Amino acid sequence: MPIPVIDFSMLNGEGRIKTMAQIANGCEEWGFFQLVNHGIPVELLERVKKVSSDCYKLEREENFFNNSTPRKRLKELVEKKNGDKLENIDWEDVFLLSDDNEWPARTPGFKETMTEYRAELKKLAEKLMEVMDENLGLPKGYIKKAFNAGEGETAFFGTKVSHYPPCPHPEMVNGLRAHTDAGGIILLFQDEEVEGLEILKDGKWIDVQPLPNSIVINTGDQLEVLSNGKYKSVWHRVQTMPDRTRRSIASFYNPSYNATIEPATELLEKEDVNQFQYPRFVFGDYMSIYTELKFLPKEPRYGYGLEAVSIAAYLEFSLEAGD
Ligand code: OGA
Ligand code: NI
Repeated sequence: MPIPVIDFSMLNGEGRIKTMAQIANGCEEWGFFQLVNHGIPVELLERVKKVSSDCYKLEREENFFNNSTPRKRLKELVEKKNGDKLENIDWEDVFLLSDDNEWPARTPGFKETMTEYRAELKKLAEKLMEVMDENLGLPKGYIKKAFNAGEGETAFFGTKVSHYPPCPHPEMVNGLRAHTDAGGIILLFQDEEVEGLEILKDGKWIDVQPLPNSIVINTGDQLEVLSNGKYKSVWHRVQTMPDRTRRSIASFYNPSYNATIEPATELLEKEDVNQFQYPRFVFGDYMSIYTELKFLPKEPRYGYGLEAVSIAAYLEFSLEAGD
């Protein structure tokens, strides 16, 4: 069962109503869908693939295989021969791009290409947020505004460049352990040949099928809260592969750390729900919890998991502080 593939160019014109409905279905029933004809020039995507691979080969691969922690930990575990699986670590090479990062210095064209790419993806994220506003019955610009925290406190747009190197014992370690994404909307440009990304759908892990030059969209925890659970942030993971390197570039549009996130009041009135399913919190507080709990069940992060009493207390505290 493949995840939905949606032709984003059909949004303008006669196909609009159908396309809006497909996106609503992707958000409500799947939490993950792929966009084709999204308007990002293929020529730019080709350059992004090239500079990312060049950068990995020139500046990162050697270190992964000679010095990295996953490599060392796997080697130690294999020598023990006790049949254990490697826990608490991912078999990946990752670095983060934002508006003010240090750029990889030795890869020609990397900075220029990725700057151009990030600007395009940010525009696409904002278009999608407007589609979601409309689908949720919220005023245009609602989500974007909710992610800002006033003057000069704008949403955060980051890009994670990941490579999942070939692994000699794929059964012993994950590429990336199962998690949901903390932020708002995530736009993933994944490898077109090497698979590995899976989502949990109705209790089963299914592949996010590689599709050349498509952009995979998923919604994070903050949209789950803002939509009061209508858009669920979905569990996903990356498997390791024995023989090939997988590239993936995830861009995420997140609230400002000072933004207060809560279910949209308009939504509650419309749906005649008289109780919040989710608390109100400051995104920065949420992130300090998420960092500890990323790979654990997500309910305690929202403060209603009874096992995590201290976390619930923490969230209550930040609720009061935010009021
Ligand atoms: C992530 C993620 C998937 C991938 O970075 O949160 O889920 O394919 N990445 O790398
Ligand atoms: Ni993720």
